[in-house]
Amino acid sequence: MSARDLVSVALASLFIACVSAQAIADDSNDSGRTSRSLPPGELSRVIELGREIVENTKDHPLSKAYVGNSLNCTSCHLDSGTHPEAATFLGVAAAYPAWSPREERVITLQDRALNCFMRSENGIRPPVGSEVAIAITAYITWLSTAQPIRMNPDKPLGPHHVPPLEESIGDINRGKPIYEDNCASCHGDNGLGSDDGPPVWGEESYNDGAGLSRVPKLASWLKVAMPLDDALLTPQEAHDIAAYINSHDRPKFNLHAHLPPKNQTGVFNGKTKQ
Ligand code: HEC
Ligand code: HEC
Repeated sequence: MSARDLVSVALASLFIACVSAQAIADDSNDSGRTSRSLPPGELSRVIELGREIVENTKDHPLSKAYVGNSLNCTSCHLDSGTHPEAATFLGVAAAYPAWSPREERVITLQDRALNCFMRSENGIRPPVGSEVAIAITAYITWLSTAQPIRMNPDKPLGPHHVPPLEESIGDINRGKPIYEDNCASCHGDNGLGSDDGPPVWGEESYNDGAGLSRVPKLASWLKVAMPLDDALLTPQEAHDIAAYINSHDRPKFNLHAHLPPKNQTGVFNGKTKQ
């Protein structure tokens, strides 16, 4: 090896060392276990309550009345929103208030979380300011501890949102056998779920207004999330399975059926008497 080659090798290793040090520093910020401890007092209780609701949304006494299917927030926001890629909650609070093209207005984190009840949970939007809304957003905000505020002027998505796969046409006929080989053991041949995985179509699944009801979004999510603990699909397989899953019937979304009565859209929750 010439002296010049040696210098390039040395520079290259230095570069790699810097890049990996950077990656580790970012990681520890994002998963934040080290820098993120629960604050004292009532706030800590509310954050823990939020985590419980995210994990048991369909059964928790505070949230079950607002859920219309068999899914919990953690069914898609894996590991209670702490999975770094599968619709992570890490860093999300720092992106709000954000512009929502669908709603044509700037929305808050609370708005965004409550919208998932209407679509992904096929239920009713809980009132703004309700205990369930405050607890969930306290938990999500806590997961953004020490993240710099970067309000999103384009869409209501956090800095580590699911990376969109390159566009491709999914083929239902190719997707069916791949689904049966890799997914049916937990989600059922009939897609209706089992003890090992929630329903992926049918009445107990997300409705056709949900993010995952769009094939490209579902494909991108599957690429980083499924099969659980072993996400190994190629981009084309992800598109094919997504097309197959979303070719089945699921609840139809009609906005007015998912909004609470007008006098229950929000509450004043302060305890002050004057
Ligand atoms: C059927 C799957 C599914 C369920 C169930 C679900 N969500 Fe979501 N949610 C998504 C997807 C997909 C996105 C878009 C994420 C992305 O592109 O990174 C999203 C986005 C969000 C966002 C915005 C994230 C960001 O990056 O800004 C919040 C907040 C959110 N969901 C909260 C909730 C809450 C709270 C619940 C439970 C009440 C819930 N979601 C249930 C699929 C789901
Ligand atoms: C080992 C069991 C298992 C396998 C195999 C598996 N999943 Fe899942 N899947 C789950 C579980 C469990 C969840 C919910 C995550 C949670 O609650 O922690 C889930 C969540 C989902 C969701 C979001 C929630 C819903 O029901 O709509 C979709 C979509 C999904 N899986 C599709 C797939 C596809 C497609 C495959 C095959 C490529 C697959 N899964 C393989 C267990 C599995």
